[in-house]
Order: sequence, then structure tokens, then C-alpha cells
Amino acid sequence: MRKFDVIVLGAGAAGLMCAAVAGQRNRRVLLVEHNTQPGRKILISGGGRCNFTNIHCTPANFISENPHFAKSALALYEPSHFLELVERYGIKWHEKTLGQLFCDHSARQIVDMLLAECERGHVEVLLNARGIAVEGTSGAFRVECSAGMFTAGALVVATGGLSIPKMGATGLVYELAQQFGLKVVEPRPALVPLVLGGREKSWVELAGVAADVTVHAGSGPKFREKLLVTHRGLSGPAVLQASSYWRPGEVIHVDFVPDANGQGRLLEALRGDGGRRDAVAFKQELRAVLPQRLAGHLAEVGAPAGWSNLALDAAERNLRNWPFHPAGTEGFEKAEVTAGGVDTDGLNSKTMEARAVPGLFFIGEGVDVTGHLGGFNFQWAWASAVAAGREV
Ligand code: FDA
Repeated sequence: MRKFDVIVLGAGAAGLMCAAVAGQRNRRVLLVEHNTQPGRKILISGGGRCNFTNIHCTPANFISENPHFAKSALALYEPSHFLELVERYGIKWHEKTLGQLFCDHSARQIVDMLLAECERGHVEVLLNARGIAVEGTSGAFRVECSAGMFTAGALVVATGGLSIPKMGATGLVYELAQQFGLKVVEPRPALVPLVLGGREKSWVELAGVAADVTVHAGSGPKFREKLLVTHRGLSGPAVLQASSYWRPGEVIHVDFVPDANGQGRLLEALRGDGGRRDAVAFKQELRAVLPQRLAGHLAEVGAPAGWSNLALDAAERNLRNWPFHPAGTEGFEKAEVTAGGVDTDGLNSKTMEARAVPGLFFIGEGVDVTGHLGGFNFQWAWASAVAAGREV
């Protein structure tokens, strides 16, 4: 049985960062990972270039049952702090769009940087550790796995959410939370493509078509980005963003002509005196502002009920607030993140420590804090990891 000050479970974004911070405070840290390599999700993130943060990060970019919870940690460790670290390692980066920062070369540089930071903190990294089981209680935790038995006064759970099981995602964080009496907000796929069925199935014939739109689901905000029609339904950044707010049975609304400011502007030509009012003119108007295949489809499924001004107004309103009724999502296999997770009511927002179990910490995606698309999920991983790493 080997003794450490801190055991961190999961060598992903949050676990690597937390282990490094704690190690550099002279804590003896063991980082335990069941994959054969650390940071697998970092490696595939951002198309292999890792969108490692977002310079416009605010608490409003996160979804949680308690929208205030993330504030302290996000204020403690800001995007500029991570950027300082990236620059210290000479990693070249660029802003792609909307404040999203990416590596110029490879996500591998971020993993190497975090491993170098762990080395500076003399963190012991244990890979290929299978069948983790935890016992004990406050201040005296025992971790048993295929690689041996270990004890520590502090235990940090950083095993992430359920997204992409084939990369090693498991529900260990939820099991441990429940084992220690913490509540869990039901995990659900987020930043995930939506599936269309029934009469809306005809949309998939447009697979490959993309358009600049605004989308919103439920009480969520409107997202102005690209929508992409897929072989199963809808995707693209605007839909992925809205999916995090979508619940089964709800409608999502798409504005196909977000630049047509104000009602009555889109079909103006048809409404004018002596203007041609028929299906051909309607389609022509749509083709002027939308990708051709999309315009053709909408001209059929969104045709006005007649050619009066009232009917044209109704058709235009429909195009500006088009309702889709998703049959479901593409699930955890395709979800970029998992929403829900360890209920923040049970955690200290400054340290991520379980209120009822001193010495037990939960960080990263396993906690009920989910970022928008665009580098926010990594920023939460870094910030929650630093909060815990400074406390353990
Ligand atoms: P993370 O999943 O990174 O790490 C958890 C670790 O725990 C893993 O190493 C896992 O193997 C290990 N583990 C799990 N179960 C275990 C068990 N039972 N025993 C031992 N170890 C266990 N975000 C962003 O901000 N910008 C981006 O560009 C992207 N891009 C992106 C692309 C794709 C394809 C995906 C799937 C996700 C993204 N994300 C993203 C999201 C981002 O990757 C994610 O939010 C963070 O990696 C979460 O960090 P964590 O450390 O919490 O979990």
C-alpha cells in the first residue's frame, strides 16, 4: 500500500492540470488513468488543434442547475492565465473566430505542456490502471485498481463525463459521487447533433447543405452560426449549441434569414404593387438569400397558404421561426460533452470540495457545469482544476 498526499483520478484536461498545480505546491501526487495514454480527448479536440480557451469567457457561457456556481473558479483562473502558460511553453496559437483560441500546430503540444507541468510537480502518473474502486472517508481514502493499492488524505475525481465511450469515457464520477452521498443531476448528451424523424425526415435529402442561421431551443439563448443538414438530421455549430438546452419532446426554432431585419422585408418584392405573386417568384426570393438546395426545399415545405399579404406575412414569419421537432440526439457516442453531473449544491464553489466529505473533490466535465461550444469546456476544466489543486 503506497501513501500519497493526493490521488487524482483521470488524466484528462482537468486531472492533468490539478495534479500539476498540487504537485508544484509540494504535495505528493498520484495521477491515475485507465487509458494507455493521458489526455486523449485533448488530442482530438478542435480538429487536432485544441480550442484550448475562449477570451470572451463569462459565466453566461455555462449551463448548470446553479448558474452562479462556476463564477468563483472562473474568476480565479481566467483565459489569460492559461494563455500565459501556453506562451511560456512557446506554443504558437491563433484566434479563429468568436474569441476561440487554437494551437497553430497540434493539440499534442497542450498535452506535452501539461505533462511537463506535472513533471515539474513530481507527479507520479499511473497509466493503464483498470477497475478503480475507492474506499474510506474524509482524509483517508483508499484507491484499489489493477496497478495496486494506494492511500491519500485527499482524493480528486476528474474522470470526465460519458461522451465518446470508445475514448474511455465512463460514469465513474457519478458512481463515486453517489457512493459518498452527493446528488447527481442526470447526465445528458450536449453539443450533439439532433435526429429528425417522421415528416421531417425529408430534410435529410439535403444532407451536406449548410446555412448561416439563428437557432434556439427551449428557454436557451439564440445562437447565430452555421446549421448543417446531415444524413440523420441537423448539426453544425448553431445546432450543437442549441442542443445543450434541448430536452426530449421540445421544439427547436430556426431563423433561416437572420439578416432580413424586421417583418415584411424578405418577401417585399412579392408584396409590391404589380409584383408577381406565385410559387416561382417565392422560390426566386428564397434563392436570393439562401443556398440553392435549401431555398428549393423551403419553397416547397414553406410555401404560403395563398398569395394575399396576410398569407405572405405568415409564410415569412414561419421562415424566421421554423419549428423542428427532433426525435432525439445522436447520443453520447457523438456528444462533444456531457451536461448534468455532480450536483453543485454539494460542492464548495471556491475549492470544488464536497461539503459533506472534506478531502473529496470533483472537477471538470463530471460536475454539473457545461460550457458552450468554443473553448469554454476546457476553460472550465482548467479553472475547476486550479481551484482544487490549490486546496488539496
Ligand atoms: P476528460 O474526458 O478530458 O478526462 C477524463 C479522463 O478520465 C480521461 O483520460 C479518461 O480516460 C479517464 N477516465 C474515465 N473513466 C475512468 C475510469 N473509470 N478509471 C480511470 N480513468 C478514467 N472542449 C473545448 O473547450 N474545446 C475543444 O476544442 C473541444 N473539442 C472537443 C472535441 C471532441 C471530439 C470532444 C469529444 C470533446 C471536445 N471538447 C472540447 C470537450 C473537452 O474535451 C472536455 O470538456 C474536456 O476534456 C473535459 O475535461 P475532463 O478532464 O473533465 O475530462
